[in-house]
Amino acid sequence: MLVRVSVNGEWREAEVWPGSSLLTMVRDDLGLPGSKNACEQGECGSCSVWLAGELVCACLVLAAQAHEREVRTVEGLAAGEAMHPVQEAFVEAGAVQCGFCTPGFVVAVTDLIERDEAVTDAEVREALSGNLCRCTGYAKILEAVRIASGRMHLREDEV
Ligand code: FES
Ligand code: FES
Repeated sequence: MLVRVSVNGEWREAEVWPGSSLLTMVRDDLGLPGSKNACEQGECGSCSVWLAGELVCACLVLAAQAHEREVRTVEGLAAGEAMHPVQEAFVEAGAVQCGFCTPGFVVAVTDLIERDEAVTDAEVREALSGNLCRCTGYAKILEAVRIASGRMHLREDEV
């Protein structure tokens, strides 16, 4: 079946198997491998993307459900060569080890900060409870969220 989606602001289409997940479509058919496939059953959050503005696990969504809708992936965050503030913060805080979970965390953290101006550590832990990391112990990820949140809201205040 033909599925047509707006991905990171560009309309794309692909011929996919009717049972194909959105994750398979973005990775294999649209050539966007940033979203990772770690569990394929909604447990780890490494495949997090936005579908029509809502954070979803792309492994749990059929590609067909995204037809004629807007998808935003981790590849849509950087502005050319310039990293998104959340990506910068992860690098700065050293919140990346193997990196497999990182795209999902970056997407989930961006979603949280874009929606919530003053996130507390408890809210961050709750919001990120669907994202699993086997390497970092989470302390540096929380530090990255603090750095990114401070910078993103500072930039908004400057506008
Ligand atoms: S790959 Fe989708 S939640 Fe793990
Ligand atoms: S950095 Fe390895 S799983 Fe998170």
